[in-house]
Amino acid sequence: MQPVEALPVRGAQPIPLRARRGVGDFDSDHDRDLTSHPRRGQGDSSGSWRADVLGTGVIRTSARLVFENPSTAQRGPARLWAMTTSEVWGRQQAERYDANQAGMYAPEVLNPTVDFLADLAGTGAALEFAIGTGRVGVALTGRGVPVTGIELSGPMVAQLRQKVGEAELPVIIGDMATTTIDGEFALVYLVFNTISNLRTQAEQVECFRNAARHLSPGGRFVIELWVPPIRRLAPGQQIVAMDVSDGHASFDTYDLVTQQCISHHYDRDAEGTIRYGSGGFRYVWPSECDLMAMVAGLELESRYADWRRSPFTSESDSHVSVWRKPA
Ligand SMILES: C[S@@+](CC[C@H](N)C(=O)[O-])C[C@H]1O[C@@H](n2cnc3c(N)ncnc32)[C@H](O)[C@@H]1O
Repeated sequence: MQPVEALPVRGAQPIPLRARRGVGDFDSDHDRDLTSHPRRGQGDSSGSWRADVLGTGVIRTSARLVFENPSTAQRGPARLWAMTTSEVWGRQQAERYDANQAGMYAPEVLNPTVDFLADLAGTGAALEFAIGTGRVGVALTGRGVPVTGIELSGPMVAQLRQKVGEAELPVIIGDMATTTIDGEFALVYLVFNTISNLRTQAEQVECFRNAARHLSPGGRFVIELWVPPIRRLAPGQQIVAMDVSDGHASFDTYDLVTQQCISHHYDRDAEGTIRYGSGGFRYVWPSECDLMAMVAGLELESRYADWRRSPFTSESDSHVSVWRKPA
C-alpha cells in the first residue's frame, strides 16, 4: 500500500457512506506524533504503557503497528502487548480531515446521527470508539451527554482539542479493540464505517468485546457501517469503480477470500497535479456483525438503513445497528 499524499475532498453534499470510505491513510509524520502521546492499555499492571517498539519508537511493518509493554522491553525477546492492523492517521491528514469531510458535518447528516445517539444515551454517559476530530462526540457533548473517546491517532485528537477541552470531553489515545477506561457507559458507538479499519476478524471481534466490556447492563453498542457492495463485481473481476467526477476518480479492489478492500483515490488539483491516496479495510456483513456481537454477549435490538431509522432492506448500502447488553 502506498503512503497517502492526499485524500478526496468531496464537497459539502452528503454522499453515500460507501463512497466516503477510503479516508484512512498514512502520513510520513505519524510515527513521531504517536510516540509523543502516552497510552493506557488493557490489563497493564504498571498502570500505563506507551508506544515503544524495539527501543525505536513506533514501527510500521506492512501497515501494522505493534505496541510493546515497556516494562518487558529490556528483557529478552519482545513481548507483544497489543497490536492493531489499523492504518494510523498522521498530522497532515488530521489537519485536512474536517475540511475534507465537510459533507459529514452538514446538519442533514450530523443532526440525525446525534439525535439517534442522544436518544439512546438518555441520562447516561457515552463512549465513542475512534472519535477522531470529534465530529460526532463534540456535538453529542453539546447535547448534554457526557462523552469519552478512544482514538488511535494523536494528531486527530489534537484537532479535537482545538474544539473542546479535556475536562469536557476526555480522550484516551489507544486502540479501540483493546484499550479500556474506567467507568460504565449507557452507550458505546462506532460510526463512519470505522470497524472496517480493523483489518482482521479477530480484532473486530475484540472491538465488540471491548464495547460490551464498557457497557452497563442494558446499555447499547451502535455501529454505522457500509454493506459491502461486492454484488457490483462483474464475474471474475476484483475492481469496482466508485466515482469518476471532475477532479476525482476512485475505485475499490477486493480480495474475496480475506474480505480485504482497498480504496484507491486519484485527485487532480487546479494545477493539474494528480495525487494518489489509498486506504485498506476489512469488509464485514451485517450478519457477521451479529455473530461478533453474540460472541461478545450482546443481542441485536434493531437495524436501520440510516440514522433516520429508515427500514433496512436488501437494497440498503449501509446500516445503523444497535446491540444491547442484557440487563
Ligand atoms: C473515518 S474517521 C472517523 C472519525 C469520527 N468518528 C467521525 O465520525 O468523524 C476514522 C477514525 O478512526 C481512527 N481509528 C482507526 N483505527 C482505530 C483503532 N484501531 N482504534 C482507535 N481509533 C482508530 C482513526 O484514527 C480516525 O480518527
